[in-house]
Amino acid sequence: LAACTPGNAGTAGPTRIGPKSPAVAAAERKRRAASSASTSVSLEASVNDVDLGGVAVRTWTYGGDLPGKEIRIKRGDMLSAELSNKLPQPTSIHWHGLALRNDMDGVPVLTQPEIKAGTTFRYDFAAPDAGTYWFHPHVGTQLDRGLYAPLIVEDPTDGSDYDTELVIVLDDWLDGVDGRDPDAVLAELKKNGMVMAEPSGSSMPGMDHGSMPGMGGMPQSELLGGDAGDVTYRYVLANGRISTAPATFRSRPGQRIRLRLVNAAADTAFRVGVPGVPMTVTHTDGFPVVPQQADVALLGMGERLDAIITVPDSPVPVLALAEGRDLYAQVLIQSGRSGDPATGAAAAPQLARLPVLTAKDLKATEEVTFPEKSPDVTHTLVLEGPGAKYSWTINGKAYNPNDGLPIRSGQRVRLRFENKSEMFHPMHLHGHTFQVLGKNGRGARKDTAIVLPGTALDVDFNADNPGQWLTHCHNLYHGEAGMMTVVSYV
Ligand code: C2O
Ligand code: CU
Repeated sequence: LAACTPGNAGTAGPTRIGPKSPAVAAAERKRRAASSASTSVSLEASVNDVDLGGVAVRTWTYGGDLPGKEIRIKRGDMLSAELSNKLPQPTSIHWHGLALRNDMDGVPVLTQPEIKAGTTFRYDFAAPDAGTYWFHPHVGTQLDRGLYAPLIVEDPTDGSDYDTELVIVLDDWLDGVDGRDPDAVLAELKKNGMVMAEPSGSSMPGMDHGSMPGMGGMPQSELLGGDAGDVTYRYVLANGRISTAPATFRSRPGQRIRLRLVNAAADTAFRVGVPGVPMTVTHTDGFPVVPQQADVALLGMGERLDAIITVPDSPVPVLALAEGRDLYAQVLIQSGRSGDPATGAAAAPQLARLPVLTAKDLKATEEVTFPEKSPDVTHTLVLEGPGAKYSWTINGKAYNPNDGLPIRSGQRVRLRFENKSEMFHPMHLHGHTFQVLGKNGRGARKDTAIVLPGTALDVDFNADNPGQWLTHCHNLYHGEAGMMTVVSYV
């Protein structure tokens, strides 16, 4: 689909800084730490049988694991990751959130050729910023089959106060269980011009919905009925497991756990919380925020959140409620005694009623706040859809790799996302971290931010990483149906 279709090479587009240009190489030299170590990993994308917790599926994964095995490096280090493509299709890897060199960004045809079936490709890059990241293919809807894994970049000077870490990757399960292929689902949606029943923008009690009367509180049966055809979500997953057979994490009372939460779902936002245990949110999309307490936080597709909790005396679940769906996932913290999956089921409805912290409530710490500066250039991105044949557009146009938003190195760039639709659009920018402009001035540093229905969101970034960079909706189906464009250094 869009991202993997060879571009209209003949069409006149913005002048390009090729990935191999001296500007890209110079930027890469700057982001390497003086003492940079190098980590090598081998990855295999392949078709495997996976156990979701008593539910066996055949699907696509990295190395047979769901999620794929975590990669962990230190800030400034080089990562050398050789991908062997054992899939029946071409693929690629995108390192979501990293301000890496453009030719390692994993976007066919924009930054590299597709990695053909049966071949290998080596990604080699420096990781300039610490944080919670993840990786996935940037070809079609391959991500939705299970090709995703966390990438943790540690900060050697981080003074955060916690005893241990728990990385949790969330997913929605459309593929595999019922034998449906996500690419086929998308094709069918487009063919029939169907509106995909997509409750991600629906019920958010206590949140400002702007202009979407009637959407809040619509029963799930209505949202999933009728037009949804065969599109069903049987499960949502936490660390590859369904809610009745959850992953467990050994701990003890009083231990401080740093949760690193990643939403890898293609089509589902989550509310995350630990019943009865306040979370201290410390990072969003890898970047530090002024610590803030929350019982529940919203996590859009592609977003990450780090939060510290203190383990109580009794076992407790980390719960992830699928926004607008009657589904949840959990990881059980064992706290001495073993946890019971049933406590999650009992706690989910209560958690759903608590006020939700969103990224707009967060503020970057001083050291990662951009100095005040008015933008040198502002690009407005009007987000609309679904159109005929399930198209989603930016400024009335579907993705075209040769048509983008021109910017220049050194500029302060403002992107203004205007959501004219009735769905959530978690908008993601490659190769940069932007600063959200919140109600109270400059907010969090992020690479993915939900734009709520009927609202606008302004984000600013520094054009300091030359190349061709996608910005797109991280609802995988919206992105692939056209809601994607290129920020292009000219
Ligand atoms: Cu995870 Cu282009 O994105
Ligand atoms: Cu979207």
